[in-house]
Amino acid sequence: MRIVFVGPPGAGKGTQSARLVDYLSIPHISSGDMLRAEIEAGSETGKQVEQFLSAGKLVPDQLMVSLVAARLIQPDCASGYLLDGFPRTAPQAEALDEILTAAGRAVDIVLEMKVPESILVERVLSRAAQSDSPRSDDNEATVHDRFETYRNSTEPILGYYRKRGICHEIEGVGTMEEVTERIHRVVDKYRLKSG
Ligand code: AP5
Ligand code: MG
Repeated sequence: MRIVFVGPPGAGKGTQSARLVDYLSIPHISSGDMLRAEIEAGSETGKQVEQFLSAGKLVPDQLMVSLVAARLIQPDCASGYLLDGFPRTAPQAEALDEILTAAGRAVDIVLEMKVPESILVERVLSRAAQSDSPRSDDNEATVHDRFETYRNSTEPILGYYRKRGICHEIEGVGTMEEVTERIHRVVDKYRLKSG
C-alpha cells in the first residue's frame, strides 16, 4: 500500500506514521527526518538545506524530489511505503505521480490530518520545551510561517487527490489512540475493498 500523510506542522503526522508503519509493515519515509539526517551528517545537501529548515521555509522542489526518488527505488519500498511530509507542493505531487506512473503504480490513500492552528502551536511549543535539543524550527515565529506555507503551498494539492477520490480527512484532535483508531478504520476499509 502506498500512503501519503498530509497535514500542518504539529498535526501528528510523525506520531501516527510511526504507528501505522508498524501496523502495515511498510517503511516510513519522512521528508523532514531525511533532511535533518542530511544536516546531522554534514553532507553537501545538509549544508544547502539547513537555512531553509531553520527559517521554516520549504527546501527547493528539485532537491526534495531527488532525495525521495532515490529512497523509493530501494528494495524495501517495492510493496509499499508511507510518505510523511512529501509531497508538499504541486510540482512535488506531479513528480511523485510521474515516478509512480512510470512504475505502473499509484498512490492508494491520502490521509489529511485536520487540527486547528491554536492546538498546533501549543503542541510544537510544548515539544520544544520538553526537548534537550529542540528543533531549530520549533519556535513561535517559525511555526506560524510553517503553517502559512502549509496553507499556501500544501493544502492546494489536496484538491488534486480529492478529485481522484483517495483523500480521507482524519480528525487529529483527541488522544493519540483515538486518532490511530480513525486511521485504522480508513486503512482497513481500503484493504477489505481491494482484497
Ligand atoms: P517536517 O519534519 O515534516 O515537519 P512539519 O510538517 O512541520 O511537522 P512536524 O514534524 O513538526 O509535526 P508532525 O505533524 O509530524 O507532528 P508530530 O507527530 O511530530 O518538516 C520540517 C521542515 O523540513 C519543513 O518546514 C521544511 O523546511 C522541510 N521539508 C520537509 N518536507 C519537505 C518537502 N516535501 N518539501 C520541501 N521542504 C520540506 O507531533 C507534534 C507534537 O504533538 C509532538 O510533541 C507529539 O507528541 C504531539 N502530539 C501528536 N499527536 C498528539 C495528540 N493526538 N494529542 C496531543 N499531542 C499530540
Ligand atoms: Mg513530523
